[in-house]
Amino acid sequence: MAKLIIVSNRLPVKLQEKDGKLKYSPSEGGLATGLGSIYKKKDNLWIGWPGMVIEDEQKQKTVIEEIRKDNMYPVFLTENEVKEFYEGFSNETLWPTFHYFSQYAIYEQDLWDTYVEVNQKYCDEILKHASPNDTIWVHDYQLLLLPSMLREKLPDATIGFFQHIPFPSYEVFRLLPWRKEILEGMLGADLVGFHTYDDMRHFLSSVNRLIGYGGMHGWINTGTRSLLVDSFPMGIDYEKYSEVAASEKVLKLEEQYRKNVGTENIIISIDRLDYSKGIPQRLQAFEMFLERYPEFHGKVTLVMLVVPSRDAVEKYKELKEEVDELVGRINGKYSDINWNPIQYFYRSLPLEVLSAFYRMANVALVTPMRDGMNLVCKEYVASKLDQKGVLILSEMAGASKELSDALLINPNDINKMVEALHEALTMPEEEQKMHMAVMQDTLKRYNIHHWVSLFMDRLSYVKIKQMSLETS
Ligand code: F6P
Repeated sequence: MAKLIIVSNRLPVKLQEKDGKLKYSPSEGGLATGLGSIYKKKDNLWIGWPGMVIEDEQKQKTVIEEIRKDNMYPVFLTENEVKEFYEGFSNETLWPTFHYFSQYAIYEQDLWDTYVEVNQKYCDEILKHASPNDTIWVHDYQLLLLPSMLREKLPDATIGFFQHIPFPSYEVFRLLPWRKEILEGMLGADLVGFHTYDDMRHFLSSVNRLIGYGGMHGWINTGTRSLLVDSFPMGIDYEKYSEVAASEKVLKLEEQYRKNVGTENIIISIDRLDYSKGIPQRLQAFEMFLERYPEFHGKVTLVMLVVPSRDAVEKYKELKEEVDELVGRINGKYSDINWNPIQYFYRSLPLEVLSAFYRMANVALVTPMRDGMNLVCKEYVASKLDQKGVLILSEMAGASKELSDALLINPNDINKMVEALHEALTMPEEEQKMHMAVMQDTLKRYNIHHWVSLFMDRLSYVKIKQMSLETS
């Protein structure tokens, strides 16, 4: 029986070492939830990095034994591979380029070489487990070369690829010295998926202009095979978020936090620490709002949660300093003995705490400079059980294509962001509920389970279509 192999840079489990003992914590991520019911079935499996460097062979064996019980197999990365493949090429070359921050991108041959080697390492691990007719679903920008590496060894396999971050326009993508190799790597898949129609369009245009392959309606003909490119906006586990928001524990936390925050208006801001998220611009907008609307002094609090991320990468370290400084400056300028305009947390917090934050916030400020999808805004909407609340959302987030009932802003337009904040904080309740209801309907229907089955169904369709093209 053919099986499904899921491959991503990180496994849905996180490994940590404490007092010489290995600790396994399950990932809360949307992908892990959506695919959870699939990879644990029968012979299916998930292959990826367990999130820490383990060089000791005995320890590696223990990890393999432990996680294989849950249908997972690890790819162990060395310290140098983490540095050059994960922090380096993935997050200092591809990430900035794909998020339109190409001025931050570094182009180094050594990093590229390690990126190729690690993609090959993933391929070798997969080949230990795969049979010729299996389905392999590869995820994200760390593994762009893997589809072709797999195709070479398993010509009949069904291979899907999904990119969770944006695909930039041709003019930006072409800046990469290894642009052709990257596209050729992706073209090994039968189905290439993106969050939005625009990402898909950009990819097709790069393939056409750099490699010369064309086609119609998302189909690409390479001369020897056909593959499909399509968009699949990823959803969240809507039920999980609305159930947690209804739990006794979260209601209690909300009550307690509301008292502690103390203001009638609460704005929430939650992101990983990343320059693509537009955190400094958001802080500037909040500062300008306080300047322009002094009647809100003492009446509004920005609860800002920043989750540490990729802190070995230089640009992330610099951003941390910038955010710390801005928060300090704004609080220093406006705080009084009873009120701090910004409550700032730099850590990750459990789901129940996030849920209580979502519940108590009458405004969510989600203003990335660029984001493949953005799931925080979807989690906020799913947690608003009383439908009171306003979402301010950047046009540059993939989610804005589905959530047109949010107040949509351009994150470079600080002035508009200030006015959106004012509009949100003064919006009549009936209007809030009307918009929230529309967004909830959309997200309930297009949830993570819908996303997974849509992608898998389309992948099977591509295989059938390829067969009919070959015989015609
Ligand atoms: O959004 C892309 C993504 O790679 C997600 O898959 C992941 O949850 C997030 O960025 C954080 O990435 P990292 O694995 O670098 O911590």
